[in-house]
Amino acid sequence: MNTSNVDTKGLNSKVWKAITGNGEDLMPPYPNAPLTPAQKATIQQWIEQGAANTTCTHICGCDSTNVSFSAYIAPVIQTFCIGCHSNTTSQGGVNLQGYTNVLAQVNNGKLIKTIKWQTGPGIVAMPYKGSKLSDCTISKFQSWVNAGSLNN
Ligand code: HEC
Repeated sequence: MNTSNVDTKGLNSKVWKAITGNGEDLMPPYPNAPLTPAQKATIQQWIEQGAANTTCTHICGCDSTNVSFSAYIAPVIQTFCIGCHSNTTSQGGVNLQGYTNVLAQVNNGKLIKTIKWQTGPGIVAMPYKGSKLSDCTISKFQSWVNAGSLNN
């Protein structure tokens, strides 16, 4: 794909509109299946990161498609968050144990903001006083959210 079709227009580009069917004929054309939410999320990420004509950096080296709650999201939370955010210890009033509790922090917008260190009113960088999660991990969380935050 020629990156000049997307680089200056990002999510207003013909390419993005075509794969989302937003103001352009949906691509790929019927009877082909549209791209999955996860595939669109990967392309969106690439566009958001500048639609660069790069060789594989963290997007290519990091498979953020089809991210599973049980196989990926929950274990990361178990490792980096649960010590302070469980049924027994809910620092800041936040419990991240189990899908329903995690979903609540997705729906109030705080989960992604805190791990991206988008500090602001009511948002503190997480893990608290720890190291930022890797770009790959953060992109997988974002992809899981973009695909509907499923209990998958
Ligand atoms: C060492 C303890 C600790 C760890 C580990 C930790 N947190 Fe927190 N978390 C806190 C504390 C303390 C607060 C309350 C911060 C405040 O309000 O000043 C908080 C608050 C939050 C909040 C509410 C919004 C906010 O910023 O106050 C969210 C969401 C959150 N944490 C998510 C996470 C996630 C996701 C992880 C893992 C990637 C994580 N936390 C790891 C201690 C921790």
